Amino acid sequence: MTHLECSLCSRNFEAGRLWNLCECGGPLLVRYDLTRLRTEWPRTALSHSAVNSMWRYAPVLPIRHRNSIVSLGEGMTPLLLARRTGARIGAADLLVKDEGLNPTGSFKARGLSCAISMCVELGVKIIAIPSAGNAASALSAYAAAAGLEAHIFMPRDVPQANFIECKAYGAHVTLVDGLISDCGRIVAERCRAEGWFDISTLKEPYRIEGKKTMGYELAEQLDWNLPDAIFYPAGGGVGMIGMWKAFAEMEAMGWIGPGRPKMIAVQAEGCQPIVRAFEEGTEASRYWDGASTVASGLRVPKPLGDRLTLRAVRESAGCALAVSDRDLMDAAVRLASEEGIFAAPEGAACVAAAERLIREGFLGSSQRIVLYNTGSGLKYLEAYSVRFPRMAAGDADKLGGLITPR
Ligand SMILES: Cc1ncc(COP(=O)(O)O)c(C=O)c1O
Ligand SMILES: [Zn+2]
Repeated sequence: MTHLECSLCSRNFEAGRLWNLCECGGPLLVRYDLTRLRTEWPRTALSHSAVNSMWRYAPVLPIRHRNSIVSLGEGMTPLLLARRTGARIGAADLLVKDEGLNPTGSFKARGLSCAISMCVELGVKIIAIPSAGNAASALSAYAAAAGLEAHIFMPRDVPQANFIECKAYGAHVTLVDGLISDCGRIVAERCRAEGWFDISTLKEPYRIEGKKTMGYELAEQLDWNLPDAIFYPAGGGVGMIGMWKAFAEMEAMGWIGPGRPKMIAVQAEGCQPIVRAFEEGTEASRYWDGASTVASGLRVPKPLGDRLTLRAVRESAGCALAVSDRDLMDAAVRLASEEGIFAAPEGAACVAAAERLIREGFLGSSQRIVLYNTGSGLKYLEAYSVRFPRMAAGDADKLGGLITPR
């Protein structure tokens, strides 16, 4: 790591220090000496790496001392060939990158492993996060592993799993009557008042570095040939921005060529600020009023990284599209029964989106398509239980109890 650079005004910032946003409001991106890495770290070095987590890419991660790393085994998730679903939707080469197998059941583990490791390295003791749910679970777990104090602010109606995980990991949880954007405001105020460190997506520059490893890993798993299209369920859009950054870094190191997949941002009909901006041809998004979807991770009405997400979508000749809750839950149930993959609704939205873009001819049936399932369906039992009801209201409290004759 050489320095950080503002993604909007290109101003430089010193490495090895805590930062939030640039004065211009732009998120900061970490920069590395890629020219040096080009000679010192060939991609073949990875085949000798014994590290079976995202930390195998440590030379392009911001940590300077190995003993700062806080790892629960994040990354190196499977890339699965989805034969039956592919045949049904007309995609002969359909792959699912299953991020549901990460610690705390979502890809958020990658970003928070990296951010918490940097907190350890830079001496931060108390942190706070606004979250749509899964980032809160991951932050709580990594804070517990690092012995840090974590303050979580999330919407009152997050999935039950997220709430219980955070409590069990020992975090201080505040449920907010509002959306992640309201939580973000509260966190900013409390951090100012209490001296906590704000780990909001993109306001903190190291989470994205962890998330970008999804791009490194995909390239490595595909023997350094990127696919034709990547479908990503975009809430904050950080995973997509991170992968786009990873591809540029890999090209600079001579690991891949200039070709890029079409980057396809998938949102929910009930909250689609990126899709609207894409269709209107604007550089930034506008606040989406009345955001509502079962895919809670996509309920981000005004993503901070909207410009960067839209840039990746447009530069790659990709597109942005929205899927209804009904269609994404249908897709989730079908993916489970066809492939044995129990996806988060966010990930399942990608299946429905791919089906539509193949039907409309945006993608050809022989193209290699990768869908990101960003989380496990096990974290969304309330959403799935609508499809598979098995008890009357009031019986729910008997679940998980001792099995006794009634
Ligand atoms: C399961 C899941 N998928 C996707 C997202 C959106 O992530 P990103 O901020 O990278 O767009 C989230 C965010 O909460 C999530 O929990
Ligand atoms: Zn700036």
